Amino acid sequence: MESLIGLVNRIQRACTVLGDHGGDGRPALPTLWEALPSVAVVGGQSSGKSSVLESIVGRDFLPRGSGIVTRRPLVLQLHQVEERQPEYAEFLHLQKRKFTDFSLVRKEIQDETDKLTGKSKQISPVPIHLSIYSPNVVNLTLLDLPGLTKVAVEGQPDSIVEDIESMPNCIILAISPANQDIATSDAMKLAREVDPSGERTFGVLTKLDLMDQGTNALDVLEGRSYRLQRPWVGVVNRSQADINKNVDMIAARKREREYFATSPDYSHLASKMGSEYLAKLLSQDLESVIKARIPSITSLINKTSDELEAELDRLGRPVAVDEGAKLYTILELCRAFDRIFKEHLD
Ligand code: GDP
Ligand code: NA
Ligand code: MG
Repeated sequence: MESLIGLVNRIQRACTVLGDHGGDGRPALPTLWEALPSVAVVGGQSSGKSSVLESIVGRDFLPRGSGIVTRRPLVLQLHQVEERQPEYAEFLHLQKRKFTDFSLVRKEIQDETDKLTGKSKQISPVPIHLSIYSPNVVNLTLLDLPGLTKVAVEGQPDSIVEDIESMPNCIILAISPANQDIATSDAMKLAREVDPSGERTFGVLTKLDLMDQGTNALDVLEGRSYRLQRPWVGVVNRSQADINKNVDMIAARKREREYFATSPDYSHLASKMGSEYLAKLLSQDLESVIKARIPSITSLINKTSDELEAELDRLGRPVAVDEGAKLYTILELCRAFDRIFKEHLD
């Protein structure tokens, strides 16, 4: 049977493909889109968001730079394939092309971002969908959202809080650097605002290797500084010097494992630290959130089908070829998904 995460990924892509590209470009069926569970990555500038995403993927593929680099939402769908299968990336807007060179993935994200936002550095709500097929990933859907910066930037909507509030089923991955006071972390300020009871937030602490000698982050990692209902996970990403030296991600993962295994402060927590553990934890959590939400997603899908049928009736048959065909496609998809979800419940 197809995994629930894979199934939700397909619905997500369908909502975007069927989007009204003539309009503001937001996905079609916004209510359904927003109800689909995924993991949203949040954190202040330079807290390590891109690094964490790349560690989870085990690849170097995100645009770099200072300032706001993410100016369109990135929907990153990870698909685990069998050992020794080829690793590749594919964009929804370029389905005929399989990327095996990940530096070209970085360039394509940049080009697609500039296409809509121009050199003006504006922010656009239209998502870029990227799928990565690899034996080194777990099944997971991650959202990299623009718009969380320390200082208000001219021309930038303060929409990330609203975005996350309108997605009640999304898990929040809040990234904070360990070499900064957790009380002033942008990620935790946002988490406190959108998820005050800490029900759907995972805390990630980066830069453990950059803390002052003789200090450690056990108060945070053991949940005493900021209580969450889900665990805190510490990670050690590549430093800027490592990136300049092109230290590869698989070597970096190995070094991270060694760091925790041999650390006098953290070795007792070693099996629950690091980016590989984080990826597994998120995948399991996402699968169980989807499972718990099947009834409400199914009822939303049924409601959407009913509305589409009413719309088709209203238009009368036959309808304009384009419009009718699109509505029928959505309707067929809704019915198919409803069926598959029900199989998972049995
Ligand atoms: P973003 O702005 O939140 O996406 O942050 P980046 O992932 O781009 O990281 C900002 C800088 O911090 C980069 O130079 C990274 O190499 C560095 N960095 C991120 N995480 C760590 C870490 O765990 N340890 C060290 N030493 N450097 C890190
Ligand atoms: Na921060
Ligand atoms: Mg970044």
